[in-house]
Amino acid sequence: MSVATKKAQDGQGQAPAKAKEEHSQPWIHVKKAEIQKFGTIRQFPIGLSYDARMYSCQRLNQVLADTQILYGLYKKHHWLMRGHTFYQLHLLLDKHAGEQLAIIDELAERIQALGGVAVGDPRHVAELTRIPRPPDGCEEVPSMISRLLEAHEMILIDARDAARKAADQGDDGTNDLLVSDVVRTGEAQVWFLAEHLVDTPLGRD
Ligand SMILES: [Fe+2]
Repeated sequence: MSVATKKAQDGQGQAPAKAKEEHSQPWIHVKKAEIQKFGTIRQFPIGLSYDARMYSCQRLNQVLADTQILYGLYKKHHWLMRGHTFYQLHLLLDKHAGEQLAIIDELAERIQALGGVAVGDPRHVAELTRIPRPPDGCEEVPSMISRLLEAHEMILIDARDAARKAADQGDDGTNDLLVSDVVRTGEAQVWFLAEHLVDTPLGRD
């Protein structure tokens, strides 16, 4: 009998069970250096210049930060809603929040596709956004809606400008995302919100 056969019969040729467990042990408490700084871009072969991709990433990160704040405002007001229109506004604001959440993902992934770094942490978002912070408590319903309308308008003005300038530099994908998703969804949501601030009777006397 060969030595190898003897070891196999004795079970000596197999790795000990303990070693196998150690092999599948996840790394934990891993803290390594950043591998890409915020505000920088990597090179991807998508036929767009460094300058065009850098410009688009900067503009998209501003829209992304403001849109994350808008999403937060929608959820806050969805939760804190009051009054006789509670049910319809509670549902409407949650629907709009869901649509904004989808746009947030599109914006972030566009930035990544251009080689940039998307703003993600809420504390970083708070540093970048231009949308005023609401009170921590509860406002009256018209103030909640006005606050949402003003946040929408800031984003719409910025997104249209960013879309035009991105297209000027050949970044049609960013232009399409900003116009088709951010601007068109935002305009439609403003319409639905603004109609709740019209003081009109249900019928004639
Ligand atoms: Fe809810």
